[in-house]
Amino acid sequence: MAELPTYRFAPAFEAPTGSAIRELFKYLSQPGMISFAGGYPPPALFDRQGLAEASERALREAPVDCLQYAATEGLPMLREQLQALMQRRGAEVALDELMVTTGSQQGLDLLIKVLLSPGDRVLVERPTYPATLQALRLAGVQPVGVATDGEGLATDALREQLAGERPGRFRLLYCVPNFANPTGACLPMTRRLELLALAAEHDFLIIEDDPYGALRFAGDPVPSLLALQHQVPGAAGRVVHLSSLSKIVAPGLRVGWMVAPVPVRQRCTIAKQTVDLCTSPWAQRIAAEYLAAGSLERHLPLLVAGYRAKAERMLAGLARLGRQFEMTAPQGGMFIWGRCSGGVQASALFTQAVAQNVLFVPGQAFFGDEPDPQALRLSFAAPDLAAIDDGLARLQRAFEAL
Ligand SMILES: Cc1ncc(COP(=O)(O)O)c(C=O)c1O
Repeated sequence: MAELPTYRFAPAFEAPTGSAIRELFKYLSQPGMISFAGGYPPPALFDRQGLAEASERALREAPVDCLQYAATEGLPMLREQLQALMQRRGAEVALDELMVTTGSQQGLDLLIKVLLSPGDRVLVERPTYPATLQALRLAGVQPVGVATDGEGLATDALREQLAGERPGRFRLLYCVPNFANPTGACLPMTRRLELLALAAEHDFLIIEDDPYGALRFAGDPVPSLLALQHQVPGAAGRVVHLSSLSKIVAPGLRVGWMVAPVPVRQRCTIAKQTVDLCTSPWAQRIAAEYLAAGSLERHLPLLVAGYRAKAERMLAGLARLGRQFEMTAPQGGMFIWGRCSGGVQASALFTQAVAQNVLFVPGQAFFGDEPDPQALRLSFAAPDLAAIDDGLARLQRAFEAL
């Protein structure tokens, strides 16, 4: 084969690092592996019948909608369905503020393009969702960690952190207030209001990333930052909300959405024109048919019950590990965040866990700065109850091997 020329890459891609979680995928092919690693919905809980019916209706009733290009903002039918979904979630949203995105991941990417320049600094929870850290870094933007605890973003710590800074120093704050990835924490109402007040005082926008909010299996719902912004003086227009059908219907649809103030939404539409022109209209129409038929409302309780059972099983099993492992019980979502005690490093436990055929994600991947070497993330979403029991027995053996 001929020798390849020397390629000249854009500076951010000269020596990029890929997703640390994707690096773990190679272990998944190990026969008999039980994975607590990915944030993958369980295949057994996909609403195959509901989606098959929606697919069939989409192509029969709207073949042109499915097969033709669509407006960049999304199919009107889907935008209307998502508007109604947002209303059921307690947020009144104008259609002009809502656009469909190819997963919520694209929403984040568009916002970075539209709102940030290289050298900007963005506040993120510490720890946070790794793909956000990666997207910021590839854009030359510096993520700056804000402390979190079992209830999510520590607004007191944020207030102190911001005290010495001039307003406008940080353009954005990115957070996952509901059942965060990786911590599973849900931000209480008082902290939500405090965060909105800080955004007004220090002149920054908040990106509220909410793929997991509908997966609440314990406790009472807390209104979104999007819904609360009008209660806090100066905070209206400071929230951009991202959400997705990935975790509640199917990630394979690649249908997410953004709710943003019109000037931001308009610019994201222009940015999206150069990325994919539009989210797959076929997938959009299937999603719209699925929502219009009330299938999500019918299926969601099943999904939530499934997650509740899995979370309870995993929490009970982890409690049996005793003092070796400290964790906070989540009230929803897919993740349990914990720390090994006694100075045990998550990376050392990971090596033993792979030998025992069980996977988790060492906490390192979730920090933009100094990682907590003892922290790790476990997901109870994908394995069934028997696999959870089995996987935890293996984890116990991995601890013993240390
Ligand atoms: C916090 C968070 N945001 C966004 C995403 C991406 O979701 P989507 O499939 O909608 O792009 C994920 C997926 O794991 C996530 O955990």
